[in-house]
Order: sequence, then structure tokens, then C-alpha cells
Amino acid sequence: MVEHNASQKQDNEQYSAKIICTANHGFAPYAQEELRRLFGSLKSTMLIPGEVFVVTLGATIQDAVERITEKSPVFLRHVFPVLMEIPGEDKELAFEQVVAYLLKRDYIEGSRVSVQVRKADGSTWTESPGILRDKLQEELAPLEAEFTVLNPEWVISLFVAKTAWYLGVSRPENNLSDWNGGAIRFQREEGQISRAKFKLLEAEKEFGIPFSSFRNALDIGAAPGGWSSFLLERGLKVTAVDPAKMHESLLDHPNLRIVNKNASDVKFKEAQFDLLVCDMSWSPKLMARMVTDLLYSLASGGTAVVTVKLLTKKPMALVHEIMDIFEDSRMQIQGAKQLFHNRDEITLYMIKY
Ligand SMILES: C[S@@+](CC[C@H](N)C(=O)[O-])C[C@H]1O[C@@H](n2cnc3c(N)ncnc32)[C@H](O)[C@@H]1O
Repeated sequence: MVEHNASQKQDNEQYSAKIICTANHGFAPYAQEELRRLFGSLKSTMLIPGEVFVVTLGATIQDAVERITEKSPVFLRHVFPVLMEIPGEDKELAFEQVVAYLLKRDYIEGSRVSVQVRKADGSTWTESPGILRDKLQEELAPLEAEFTVLNPEWVISLFVAKTAWYLGVSRPENNLSDWNGGAIRFQREEGQISRAKFKLLEAEKEFGIPFSSFRNALDIGAAPGGWSSFLLERGLKVTAVDPAKMHESLLDHPNLRIVNKNASDVKFKEAQFDLLVCDMSWSPKLMARMVTDLLYSLASGGTAVVTVKLLTKKPMALVHEIMDIFEDSRMQIQGAKQLFHNRDEITLYMIKY
């Protein structure tokens, strides 16, 4: 974490770091479990059931944030360190305290700042988070910051819970995502084949996968073709395997070969592909076996992106079991994450060695 001046240093050295953590709905308990493994015991309170919680860790903010961002837990979508916790009963007073605190953060003066506000049901702020953000930005005019959504230098995070307001100022790279609560949004395009495309777009951003640098992709479980269309747009040649029908807009695409078969019944050449993607709504263990059986067709150094359905009450154990299967098949795990656009699944990003 780069330190800029004394007041920022002081902020980061606060002990007993409090962090607001966000997971996909229903997966917060697994994110808590991952943090427990990382930090030992921790104090944790749910702010939005199954989704947002606040943890107190036996570490400074700087140390906590470094360890979390380095590990990037699978089920933790977004974090922000709390610099100030304000009683929320009197919303006018809470608002004044937030403003007074922020106006003293001289390190954000004149920089590009994203103000991200969220709230829980039952909080004293009855209007929308957007109204609170606008009001806050007005009051922060003396900072002469440029308020922006994209590519901020600093993020002001405010979470308005039932009884308290949690305020933080952090670098976007220390929040695991520069989107409010990690909820990354993409514009739905006209003629878009499926929402599944958002998963690959998000994986591209989250893991920094250079999709345009690949030439030949194998797409397993490809129908109706959201992922295939994304890869075609990135300029790849795509072989799409699925017994189900591909969307008619793709049928005549010159760079698409459609194989209407079960993935266990197909044969390819050795090292024919430099990218393998698989988004099969199927038993994870059978999917892993099917994909590993086809890995001969992925060249060394090739990339694989695979979604793993979490059809179990023990998702952590399952994720590790599936990662072990791939690791035993010459795949190096580069990233494992439950993306915002993943529902009951996670995305694995791997490279073959
Ligand atoms: C969630 S959909 C894939 C969506 C796709 N990624 C997209 O972007 O449009 C899952 C697909 O996996 C396919 N599938 C399931 N089992 C399969 C198998 N054994 N071999 C090939 N495809 C399979 C299903 O037919 C289904 O079309």
C-alpha cells in the first residue's frame, strides 16, 4: 500500500481493523470462513443477511488489506476498511460527522474520487443511496476532487447499516473491486445471446485475461452461444461443443465451428487450441473429468476458464477438490473467484504448464 502523507499513514495504522465485506447473496458465511482461515479468530456481524458483514481483525488496516488482497478469497467480492463508525440514530448528525471527517482527509484533495454509498434495510436513511451520494459530493466541494465512477484514484465508501454508518477512504485496488460493493455492471447489448456473456467479460477484467491474444478456442457447453459470441468478437476462431442448439445468429459465422455432440464424444488434435472455456451446468466432478479428458487438445501455456457449479452445502471443500483435480492435470490455478455475475458457481482461471 503506497502511503502518501501523515494523515493517510495514521489512518492505515489503526489497529483492530474493521472491514466491511461483501459476498454474493447467500455466500457470506463462506467468505467469513475464508477470513477466519486467514486471520484466525475474528469478530463478525452480519449487516445484510448472507451478503454484507463487518469484521474486526487482530491486525492494522494496512496489514489486513494487504493480506486480503494478496489472498483474494474466493467468496469475498468486495471489501473496504472502516476508518470511522458513526451511530446512525440521528441521520442529520451522522451525515455532518461524515462530511467533517472527509473534509479533513487532505490526501484526497484535487484527485479523482468515486463516492460509493450502500445501505441496509431498516436504516435511518430512508431515501436512496444515490441521493445520499449526491448530497455528500455537494458538501465535499471544498476538496476540489473530481467525482467519477470509472478509474478513481480514491474511493469513499459509506455503508449505512441499521444502527451505524461505516465510512472508509481507500485505494480502489485495496477494495478487491473498484465497483460499488463489487457489483460490476455491463450494458446489455442489442441481440445479446445470453447473460452468460457477462461472466466472461467480468473474468476478463477480474483476472486480466488477454482474450484477444488467443487464436483457437474450444467452448464446451457452448449453447446458446454467449461465450462463443464474446470470443468471436475478440477475433478468435471458436469450436463450440454442445448437444443443444446454438443461437441462429451464430450459425453462419465463418470463424465458428459447431459440434452438436456431448463433450465426452468428441475428439480433437493434440494441442489444437490455446484457449479452453467451459460453462456447463452440470455436476462439477463430472465436468472436471470431462474437461481434463479434453486437456490434451490444449497447448502448453494455454489458458482455461471454467465455471464450477456449487450444488452442495460444502462449497469450500468442493472448490478445493475440483482445483486438486485440475492441478493433477498440469493446470496451474491463476485465480478462483465467485464473480458478481456467477450465481451458484465460481470461475476458475488456469494455465497449462
Ligand atoms: C449454462 S449453459 C452455457 C451457456 C453458454 N456459456 C453461453 O454463454 O451461452 C450450459 C450448457 O452446457 C451444455 N451441456 C451440458 N452437459 C453437456 C455435455 N456433456 N457436453 C456438452 N455440453 C453440455 C448444456 O446443453 C447447456 O447448453
